[in-house]
Amino acid sequence: MKRSLSIEFSRVTEAAALAAFNWIGRGDKSAADEAAVNAMRLLLNEMEIRGEVVIGEGEIDEAPMLYIGEKVGLGREEDEEITIAVDPIDGTRMTAMGQANALSVLAAGGKNTFLKAPDMYMEKLVVGSEAKGMIDLNLPLEQNLRRVASKKGKLLTQMTVAVLDKPRHQEVIREMQKLGVRVMAIPDGDVAAAVQCCLPQGEFELDLLYGIGGAPEGVVAAAAVRALGGDMQARLIPRNQVKGNTLENFAHAEKELARCEALNVAVNDVLILDDLVRDDNLVFAATGITHGDLLKGIVRRGNLATTETLLIRGRSRTIRKIQSSHYLDRKDPALHEMINP
Ligand code: FBP
Repeated sequence: MKRSLSIEFSRVTEAAALAAFNWIGRGDKSAADEAAVNAMRLLLNEMEIRGEVVIGEGEIDEAPMLYIGEKVGLGREEDEEITIAVDPIDGTRMTAMGQANALSVLAAGGKNTFLKAPDMYMEKLVVGSEAKGMIDLNLPLEQNLRRVASKKGKLLTQMTVAVLDKPRHQEVIREMQKLGVRVMAIPDGDVAAAVQCCLPQGEFELDLLYGIGGAPEGVVAAAAVRALGGDMQARLIPRNQVKGNTLENFAHAEKELARCEALNVAVNDVLILDDLVRDDNLVFAATGITHGDLLKGIVRRGNLATTETLLIRGRSRTIRKIQSSHYLDRKDPALHEMINP
């Protein structure tokens, strides 16, 4: 991918975050998501790419915008073919409730870079580069923890693990705490936590991310993990296995299995990092919406807004933190309207 495209992708997550800002704390997850999706789509469509969304906001019949298979960009003959995995807001609930750590995020790469996974649950295990090669989702979590700890020359009591604070993880959280592991139970937003495991310098050291979250978030996170030299394994899990064997969940799971078959992706099998993201030639961009451990949130004073964006190029492993000041009345009219509804 042309190097000059990477900065353009940072403009896309900035625009989505700026549009989401208006919905912080207003209790409306869908409106926040729609605002971010619209802005992301507007900016993507201005890019000199022949783009295709491969991880998006659901299937075409469920999500009118940034759906899987949607073509974006100017789409001219001379433009580069790019595939894109988007999560316009990771943390829609956090945005709606004015809580920390919501961000807008995407990853972009060449034609076959990303696993095409439906919107379903995914079990994820992530570590940074120091522990690359030490994880195996087929082994019990305790064994993974011990392997990573010994590779890093740590005791279990010196290990910090991030887990989504969901009912399905309460047992695993207790088990880890019994082993003396420090558990950071995050309410939502496992993309940011996955990135934190792999960043060479973070606010605090996260040794591992474990747990079941969204598959789209998993693929987006895997792009950052790969770009940063970390490691990840994952497993797609049907809804009934996560949420219980109700008729509704079975019906949902049946659709997920059909989608997996159509996309030729295995369910319940361990996927390694190479299955999730196949090439280093990628870009990962994330902009903070609300203030978080990974990125500062948007600050707006009248006509001026500041954003903080993390931009990582996989090929060179360059990590940029971009602080931008935006004079909102200078934005193109279409974007200005989305930022100032
Ligand atoms: P959304 O903002 O798209 O709702 O995602 C937030 C999130 O916490 C993800 O980071 C995580 O992967 C997923 O939801 C977990 O799903 P669930 O909320 O169903 O447990």
